[in-house]
Amino acid sequence: MYRSHTCGELRIGDVNKQVTLAGWVQTVRKFGAITFVDLRDRYGITQLLFGEELNKVLDENPLGREFVLQATGLVAERSSKNAHIPTGEIEINIQSFTVLNKSVVPPFTIQDDTDGGDDLRMKYRFLDLRRNAVKKNLELRYAVNRSARNYLHENQFMDIETPFLIKSTPEGARDFVVPSRMNPGQFYALPQSPQTFKQLLMVSGYDRYYQIVKCFRDEDLRADRQPEFTQIDCEMAFVEQEDILNMFEGLIKRVFKDVKNIDYTEKVARMSWEDAMWQYGNDKPDIRFGMKIANLKSAFTRNGKIEAVGELINGAGFGVFDNAETVLAIAVPGCSEYTRKQTDELTDWVKRPQIGMQGLVFIKCNADGTYKSSVDKFYPEDKLKAIAHAAGAVAGDLILILAGREERTRKAISELRLEMGKRLGFRKEDEFKLLWVMDFPLFEYAEEENRWVARHHPFTSPKPDHIEVMINNNPVIENAEKYLEHPYNHIKANAYDMVLNGNEIGGGSIRIHQRALQEKMFTALGMSQEEALHKFGFLLGAFEFGAPPHGGIAFGFDRLCSILGGSESIRDFIAFPKNNSGRDVMLDAPSSIDDKQLDELQIQLNQGQD
Ligand code: AMO
Repeated sequence: MYRSHTCGELRIGDVNKQVTLAGWVQTVRKFGAITFVDLRDRYGITQLLFGEELNKVLDENPLGREFVLQATGLVAERSSKNAHIPTGEIEINIQSFTVLNKSVVPPFTIQDDTDGGDDLRMKYRFLDLRRNAVKKNLELRYAVNRSARNYLHENQFMDIETPFLIKSTPEGARDFVVPSRMNPGQFYALPQSPQTFKQLLMVSGYDRYYQIVKCFRDEDLRADRQPEFTQIDCEMAFVEQEDILNMFEGLIKRVFKDVKNIDYTEKVARMSWEDAMWQYGNDKPDIRFGMKIANLKSAFTRNGKIEAVGELINGAGFGVFDNAETVLAIAVPGCSEYTRKQTDELTDWVKRPQIGMQGLVFIKCNADGTYKSSVDKFYPEDKLKAIAHAAGAVAGDLILILAGREERTRKAISELRLEMGKRLGFRKEDEFKLLWVMDFPLFEYAEEENRWVARHHPFTSPKPDHIEVMINNNPVIENAEKYLEHPYNHIKANAYDMVLNGNEIGGGSIRIHQRALQEKMFTALGMSQEEALHKFGFLLGAFEFGAPPHGGIAFGFDRLCSILGGSESIRDFIAFPKNNSGRDVMLDAPSSIDDKQLDELQIQLNQGQD
């Protein structure tokens, strides 16, 4: 037996017990004839006391950091207690010990506030994983996993594995491909998600499926994206959108309860995609705070719902507004007294290349009811007042206004809103606000190719009353300039995203389950019948054998964990993540392979690459 207890287990009630612990040496502190050692394992830290006799042994064979130690002794009450750790009232008077293994000096300290930089910690990830901070994240991940599984199991969902070596599943990213030795010149694709398999399982009659599953996408990486990531992937048959929303609201609420002890009793808020874009400038609004966007000029053309107040700002001789496609504003509460330095800094902020605006206009809504702006020259006070009214501002607010091309300006104001929300403390880490964003457009216009692409994925069903529009109209875009007027531009999808604190944590849809409509969808996306059959013949075929109505959702498991854990980076919640260039720096992967392997695969590399 290597140990009788763990390093996090012993308490004052265990005094006088003889115990054996095993773990890693965190620190060694020598005080004259005695030595204190902090011994660490997954469960905690316990202080060991080496008396005079053993101290001599230690002098000859000193312990180093991260040595693996087994030690036996008596539990004793400490004279100076440490209230910060659960074992802080006791220590172990060591009677005998064995060094189970030595360690070279670790490249960084295995402590909460480590001295190791990001790269070093990634290279020695197995050491980083010993740190409390990382361990806590993995524990949280496991708790979310358990909670989700329990809920799904209790609701008759069955965990069914689906293959990794498959044919492409379009989810909007590039595929990772794997060459096949047995089929020279041919490649498998790794799944971007199990989408088509879970639909086939519905055809097979497994009406409630789930899987906590790896997905692979070759796309540009960000803090919330990894090339391989995990989904809680779910599908249900004989359901309507409402059934799915209820079921998976339940799942997230259960996770909140089990993992964070939060009773999220209120119904999850719902917002149409149009409202999200119109009021928050993006499709995953953070609704922990208001500061909604006001449209001071132009049409946000997709919804035809023009609340613009262009006459307020047009024609005052201020070219920036007169010539802009869009003028958008937010009213920032309590900031009317910003100094010149502060507004200059905000102007620099919006001019950064990531935001890309030319400048920032502001109006101060002073507490005494007067207005002061950076465009006083063009707008007399009554106009400023009217603009303030349109922006929903009250006394004490600072109105920030951006003008320019519609898409860029909308993105920029949305970023500015989030930034101001953060600076003003409105985006609290311990406040969780869920939101369903719904009624997405089924198609998006791809300018470069002058064709439609699926906003979600090609298996998403249109809203029932939009099916006719899809079937009865020709998807070809005759006039690219007028794509906005094409009937396909107005078709809404039976799709929904779940948003948590401004992050998309899940997305799904009701699927198409009739062959004819699915074929129409492929045609709409510019696929020839041949291509559709080649790529998705298996699915089209399956739809002819009694496909039930079905729909589902997939949650980004890593994202969900990182938000619950209060971190922006999903890497912190993945045991062995890739870095921003998609590399595993510990394994040094990807890497070149032997010529022999290449020969077997009948692959020849281009000159100059190895
Ligand atoms: P979608 O592509 O929206 O839907 O993905 C579902 C959720 O997965 C997370 N996610 C990611 N997380 C980390 N790194 C990535 N690269 C990454 N990409 C996506 C997001 C997202 O909301 N098959 C459909 C689901 C369905 O229709 O049922 C799908 O994969 O949190």
